[in-house]
Amino acid sequence: MRVIKKIFFTLIIVISLMISIFVWFAKSNNKDYGDNNKIMKSNRSNTKKALVIYQPSRFKVTDKIAEKIAGGIKDEGYDVTLNYPGSHLSNDISQYSIVVFGSPVYIGQISSTLTDYMKRIKNYEDKKVLIFATGSQLNNGEVDKIGENLSTIKATEKINFKNGNKDEDKAYEIGKKIAGE
Ligand SMILES: Cc1cc2nc3c(=O)[nH]c(=O)nc-3n(C[C@H](O)[C@H](O)[C@H](O)COP(=O)(O)O)c2cc1C
Repeated sequence: MRVIKKIFFTLIIVISLMISIFVWFAKSNNKDYGDNNKIMKSNRSNTKKALVIYQPSRFKVTDKIAEKIAGGIKDEGYDVTLNYPGSHLSNDISQYSIVVFGSPVYIGQISSTLTDYMKRIKNYEDKKVLIFATGSQLNNGEVDKIGENLSTIKATEKINFKNGNKDEDKAYEIGKKIAGE
């Protein structure tokens, strides 16, 4: 009887711990982390501008992928601004010709901080929009959900990154591709 009790309580503790960890990750995906403005400047003159907005992830996979995409865009002659989504951002994206939005996926959920920002923007016309998600078990549902928050247009490209940091080269090439098109 004592052994059964021990097993029962251990199970309860393990399950509670797992639920707490899941909730913690899910909450972090909806948090506004504030301003984290970075600019990657092209060394070409007369540059066009691109904006890369991504929700940071716990182990920085999403951050690395966003930076690599930005690097690819920069190497095609754009000045690229990177930042986290949140209330610090302007709704006016008129100066950018490429806009990138990215989110990690935890328990099937994308970042509401990101989608709230996307909904605030009204002037998507004439822009190339790249949407990406990071996660280990993605289908296309996650990027489609992010794309639903573009008011009047459809995304130019939607990409899943399922292999963590191993996808960095792919991210760089995607950046180059969207900027070169
Ligand atoms: C608690 C937790 C829940 C997760 N849920 C999902 C999920 O539902 N779908 C998915 O594709 N990936 C899921 N993942 C994997 C993350 O999305 C993946 O690691 C992503 O690249 C986030 O980057 P990070 O490793 O920097 O946190 C989950 C990871 C954790 C830790």
